[in-house]
Amino acid sequence: MTLQFSLATAAPETIDSACILVGVYEHGVLSSAAARVDSATDGLIKRLVDAGDISGKAGSSNLLFAPAGINARRVLVLGLGAQKSFDAARFQKVNVEAARALGRVPVDGATSYLTELDVSGRDSGWRVRVAALASDYAAYRYTATFKPRDKSKQPELATLAFAAGDDARAGLDQAVAIAEGVRFARELANLPPNICNPAWIASQAQAFAEAQANTSCRVLDHVEMEQLGFGSLLAVARGSVNKPKLVVLEYKGGSEGDKPYAFVGKGVTFDSGGISLKPGPGMEEMKFDMGGAAAVLGAFVAAVKMGLKLNLVCVVPAVENMPDGDSYRPSDVLTSLSGLTIEVLNTDAEGRLILCDALTWTARTFQPQAMVDAATLTGACVIALGKHASAVMSKHDDLAAELVAAGEETLDRAWRLPLWDDYQAQLESGFADVANIGGKSAGAITAACFLSRFTEGQRWAHLDIAGTAWEEGRKGLATGRPVNLLVQWLLDQSKK
Ligand code: BES
Ligand code: MN
Ligand code: ZN
Repeated sequence: MTLQFSLATAAPETIDSACILVGVYEHGVLSSAAARVDSATDGLIKRLVDAGDISGKAGSSNLLFAPAGINARRVLVLGLGAQKSFDAARFQKVNVEAARALGRVPVDGATSYLTELDVSGRDSGWRVRVAALASDYAAYRYTATFKPRDKSKQPELATLAFAAGDDARAGLDQAVAIAEGVRFARELANLPPNICNPAWIASQAQAFAEAQANTSCRVLDHVEMEQLGFGSLLAVARGSVNKPKLVVLEYKGGSEGDKPYAFVGKGVTFDSGGISLKPGPGMEEMKFDMGGAAAVLGAFVAAVKMGLKLNLVCVVPAVENMPDGDSYRPSDVLTSLSGLTIEVLNTDAEGRLILCDALTWTARTFQPQAMVDAATLTGACVIALGKHASAVMSKHDDLAAELVAAGEETLDRAWRLPLWDDYQAQLESGFADVANIGGKSAGAITAACFLSRFTEGQRWAHLDIAGTAWEEGRKGLATGRPVNLLVQWLLDQSKK
């Protein structure tokens, strides 16, 4: 269920609420809201600290029922960890933990005082935005492909208020739009590939555009792409009965003549590897190989919902990579839309083969102010950065710095890898202008080097989100990353 958010200014000891949330640091250091509850309840919190019930340890929580002296029916006490190491990342985490703990309490509404906590260098608008997004992230449930269940009779959390003044209003409004974008991305990416195929992605984009002002969608099918010369993208698609689509969304929130910003997202709805078939274990995770498409579509949704004053296009090459009698094969030479020929050395390096044509088309069609692609492109990126940071690669230092800063601001972090020409030699081929793989070293970088050859000299950056797009494990869900980063970057651009 989507949460409804609001702001609250009443004091924790007087507010009428089914549940209030307050924080306690380690070693019995109370936050100011906890201290106010403590004095109104005749020292209840301090007594629980002394008794060892409340540890203040990060990840801990205690529910106090109907304490005498305050109006709230419950107090959920969240452990904040050591006060001296309490930072922005901890703040985000405690808000996720708070929403999870709150989900187990039978209330339909609550008020959080965690947004009053001091976070170095961050204002109240930031705190409310991060708290709301963290709560919505924790409240998300994937239900689309389960047998419908009877609604439980327990009340379910529906409304959440954050303690903050009106200066946090803009932050809250942004959070509502961004949460919708993140949910859009997560839901699309979580759907199985027998539902979410290229045509499905196209229909979701079309349905969104039809319901919005200033927004349009067109979809190029395989016949149109053939006429235009998308030889590389179409080769990847050939092994699947699910025909490829190029989904193009446009939003006009800026002036008529303003060049748009452009997002491009890898939309491989299932990556079996093709003839270079992947091993069986873990192959199911390759339904998330359209995580880049989901993220750029989610960022587009958020930008439209916020009414950003800029022009934006979002281009998604949507394809399924399958083995078949008609599949493309290792040693095939493809002619890309740019005219450059590509020797296929591995059909599992398919992401770059669909992105190259999409990037060329986007660059030529829109000459965007800047072009950013997001793609679950390489396993090598997961080896390099793990599941915590997306990789940023760009020849444009200012653009790379903007994206890293947007990741830092939203805690949707990214880390830059080099894109020096020194690596380009790894892509040399004896039979075509370029090979589609670059050997075993620096795999994330050589993939980006490959893409760089198709960007027509435009201002471009590549985000490899192979490690960040979904949570690991059998029950791992799509994260919606890097919607937050992309939207923050757009917000920063719209203020320039
Ligand atoms: N979609 C994969 C990359 C991937 C792998 C993302 C694991 C997340 C987790 C991509 O299409 C791929 O298969 N890449 C190959 C490239 C190689 C053949 C050069 C890889 O990383 O192994
Ligand atoms: Mn692959
Ligand atoms: Zn792939």
